[in-house]
Amino acid sequence: MFADRVLSGMRPTGNLHLGHYHGVLKNWLSLQQKYECLFFVADWHALTTHYDSPQIIEQNSWDMAIDWLAAGVDPAQATLFIQSKVPAHAELYLLLSMITPLGWLERVPTYKDQQEKLTEKDLSTYGFLGYPLLQSADILVYRANLVPVGEDQAPHLEFTREVSRRFNHIFGKEPDFAEKITQTIKKMGAKKGKLYNELRNRYQEQGDEQALREAKSLLETQQNLSMDDRERLFGYLEGRSRVILPEPQTLLTKASKMPGLDGQKMSKSYGNTIGLREDADSIAKKIRTMPTDPARVRRSDPGNPEKCPVWQFHQLYSSADTKQWVWEGCTTAGIGCLECKQPVIQSILEEQAPILERAKMYENDPAQVKKIIMAGNEKANQLAEETMRDIRLALGIGYPTI
Ligand code: TRP
Ligand code: SF4
Repeated sequence: MFADRVLSGMRPTGNLHLGHYHGVLKNWLSLQQKYECLFFVADWHALTTHYDSPQIIEQNSWDMAIDWLAAGVDPAQATLFIQSKVPAHAELYLLLSMITPLGWLERVPTYKDQQEKLTEKDLSTYGFLGYPLLQSADILVYRANLVPVGEDQAPHLEFTREVSRRFNHIFGKEPDFAEKITQTIKKMGAKKGKLYNELRNRYQEQGDEQALREAKSLLETQQNLSMDDRERLFGYLEGRSRVILPEPQTLLTKASKMPGLDGQKMSKSYGNTIGLREDADSIAKKIRTMPTDPARVRRSDPGNPEKCPVWQFHQLYSSADTKQWVWEGCTTAGIGCLECKQPVIQSILEEQAPILERAKMYENDPAQVKKIIMAGNEKANQLAEETMRDIRLALGIGYPTI
């Protein structure tokens, strides 16, 4: 009933690094070519954990927008916006809070995990408990059905599906449903209307699957029914309520292959990152000083690439020939580690060149970035409003006359 729509967000809590590029952004780049995409800066989500450093959020938001644009997210294909500039996220968050059992929030695994991990922060707040519900509102307010996220976010998506099911169950009954059904069946004509009712009864009372199939194909051949009419009769047939908020699917982003400088996953918390817009000298220095096979102490000692984080970089960045050269040279002490690292430095800088070029353009033209985001905010507000109208009506606060 609703068209495919992709939505994803990132919290503006610091500069993006190559892990984000390989893990998330490259995926966005391919999605934007296939689907309607909405990508947003989750500044309210940042505040749930960073409420004590409000001074950095705004700058981070702009930097993140530039990082996305620099990586190739195309404002002509995707809508880029800032969460707090679309108040409907907050409105839906509030409305959903009415029907969200506390226990569901307390049971989301990230709630306890993060509280235990981030001990330096007081996260016993209402806002932090509500984090997944705000995320649900982000998704449901656009009726987005495809949400690309990493594995760590999967529980939040599962939670969102539960919230949408509960919402549809409670509010999916139209007040004048029975009357509308009678009217709609009449449109089918006396004979077919009667047949529909008979088939429905057979399915509802005896679980007759054949009757269900026949009734469905009967509806499909009815030319004179509107989309709404048809959807209503399908719903009545199966005894389900109307879908106001569709359940979103998780588009699981494969774990990033990007290793950090120490061989662990690249992550800000490990201090092993290379920034997306980091300058060339600094990148070269980081690679030159990164650890290698600890057993290879002297140049004359042969090494084992399997024990070396540099080898992981070659896996990601090097051609078969170069990898062959590394393997050969390392295991026979034919090459030195600095020599081995050179092609990695080269490849990272080559990958980065077009990113830096685009970044420069936007850094030099902040008005352009602002324009892109403002257009995105406006578009997002419009789309969100379409859903909110249905939601307010379903909740009995539509006030259609004012
Ligand atoms: N919680 C997500 C993260 O930390 C960010 C996020 C907020 C998000 N709202 C979202 C992701 C909606 C996808 C959809 O990565
Ligand atoms: Fe690692 Fe390359 Fe040195 Fe071998 S030669 S230990 S692969 S950096």
